[in-house]
Amino acid sequence: MSGELSPIDKAKFVAAKRAADYVEDGMRVGLGTGSTAAWLVRCLGEQVREGGLRFKGVPTSTRTADLAREVGIEVISLDEAKWLDITIDGADEFDGDLNLIKGGGGALLQEKIVATASDQMVVIADIGKEVEHLGAFPLPIEVIPFGWQTTQALVEETLISMDVLGRQSSLRMNGERPFITDEGNYILDLHLQRIGNPRQLALVINQMPGVVENGLFIDICDVVVVGYGDGRVEIRDINEGTVEQDRLDFLETDNLFTDLAE
Ligand code: 5RP
Repeated sequence: MSGELSPIDKAKFVAAKRAADYVEDGMRVGLGTGSTAAWLVRCLGEQVREGGLRFKGVPTSTRTADLAREVGIEVISLDEAKWLDITIDGADEFDGDLNLIKGGGGALLQEKIVATASDQMVVIADIGKEVEHLGAFPLPIEVIPFGWQTTQALVEETLISMDVLGRQSSLRMNGERPFITDEGNYILDLHLQRIGNPRQLALVINQMPGVVENGLFIDICDVVVVGYGDGRVEIRDINEGTVEQDRLDFLETDNLFTDLAE
């Protein structure tokens, strides 16, 4: 029931539910990864099963692919889709220019490829993800396992000349072992605290041998649907320069909440 959800989960849910309205019959849709994106996939699955919605989904991780199939969404690969109408995904941080840090769930590489191959990227997030400056959330970078410690040293050295407050980095772990991405790579989390020039940092990091991709999404996101714990949503469109307010009714979705809370 809705009463069992935390305010953050409610905020994630209403953002996801509102963003599901962007999906129309016949679209090819990039499906993000993470807890907020999982709410979206569930909402879309419900619309497929009960509302007759017909679209093809391109998942950004094996986790999302498994969930999408489970809830009844037709899954295709990016190569089959070639280009997407829209991608809807979560984020770890977003700023006033709708630049993002992503990759908290370790899927940043597929997420960036899929979002970049879309006419529109819509981010769904609870209000706690909004920041004035990116960087409090550790910036994930995907690196190939070969020579990863050398890559890490090179990254830390390069950060000396970057406009950041911190330079520490850590290898993401999964218990006793390194976390492995869907592409078989490692993740380094950069503890930068504050990123003064995200655009420059993204370019410089991607120049380094051993780095596959970084979690900064610059000029990729078009719209952020921000959710609040009381059911309010705010739709911020960077291209239109508009901010729209909305509110979702929890009562209609009790079954879905029960499903998701399990
Ligand atoms: C996964 C991501 C996620 O979108 C990001 O970590 C947000 O996750 P959540 O919705 O669980 O807060 O980038 O790689």
